[in-house]
Amino acid sequence: MKTITTIHDMQSTVRMEKQTGKSIGFVPTMGYLHEGHMSLLQKAREMNDIVVLSIFVNPLQFGPGEDLETYPRDLIHDEQAAENSGADYLFYPTIHEMYGDEPSVTAVVKKRVNCLCGRNRIGHFDGVATVLTKLFNIIQPDRAYFGLKDAQQVAVVDGLIHDFNFPIELVPVSTVREEDGLAKSSRNVYLLQDERVRARELYQALLKAEEAIDSGERDPEIILRTVSNHIISETGADIDYVEVLAYPELKPVKKLEGKIIIALAVKFQKARLIDNMIVTIKDREHQSAFEQTGKEA
Ligand code: PAJ
Repeated sequence: MKTITTIHDMQSTVRMEKQTGKSIGFVPTMGYLHEGHMSLLQKAREMNDIVVLSIFVNPLQFGPGEDLETYPRDLIHDEQAAENSGADYLFYPTIHEMYGDEPSVTAVVKKRVNCLCGRNRIGHFDGVATVLTKLFNIIQPDRAYFGLKDAQQVAVVDGLIHDFNFPIELVPVSTVREEDGLAKSSRNVYLLQDERVRARELYQALLKAEEAIDSGERDPEIILRTVSNHIISETGADIDYVEVLAYPELKPVKKLEGKIIIALAVKFQKARLIDNMIVTIKDREHQSAFEQTGKEA
């Protein structure tokens, strides 16, 4: 695997690879790689001739008081992990290389951001869209891989690719979890020991919601309360949000039907964690008696 630090070198490398007709799979990350990132790299490896991974802690997507300075970093570990997972190139630019002194043009996301993480993290998705626009232009991938752990990000990227006409296939990848169900995240290192034990209950809360849907519950308010009550009684964390929305439109629903997302964000002492579950619902009322004998939700 080759590490590239300048935009110029990355662009000429991509040009060279494309001349021989090779397909490019791209996995953008902020580093401190774990098995979640690895699963994106594995998917990219399976589907493309060339795999490019980027590591860039993007200042534009961090708000005031967020963890830009303390965001965990470990380049030596990341280079090894990327190499092991079969990446061909690591793009690792500095902030100055990406933005110069200050960007003169940035992207603004208009839809799918006034909810979930977008509501309190003002400008966060604008920063994500800006950096991805640059990375897509530099790397010119055929496919780009994103984790459903950050399902709102996937929905925003879906809009970005569509609206800016990037000739890129978006490939969403399922959330990778620890054995006890906690979604893998670079920020899990911020959890105190007892918080780490209780953090497993976030996934349990989502499973409870899924169970309720499986047994016929179609009221989003009840699902919301099921998840919130479980978090309050079992984790001791502060709820930032629990929301039930249509996916990927991220619009409120009166009744659960079609594809929906149950998403949560909670704050422990030093860690803010997010998780979600996406469920496709085939409503009983729209099914024949014969179909009703199969699995419903
Ligand atoms: P980062 O948080 O490093 O995540 C990089 C990618 O890994 C994202 O697509 C994220 O959804 C995915 N990922 C993280 N944890 C995962 C898990 N447990 N299972 C599956 N996938 C997981 O997301 C970003 O960086 C940035 O916003 C970025 C897109 C790089 C733009 O700066």
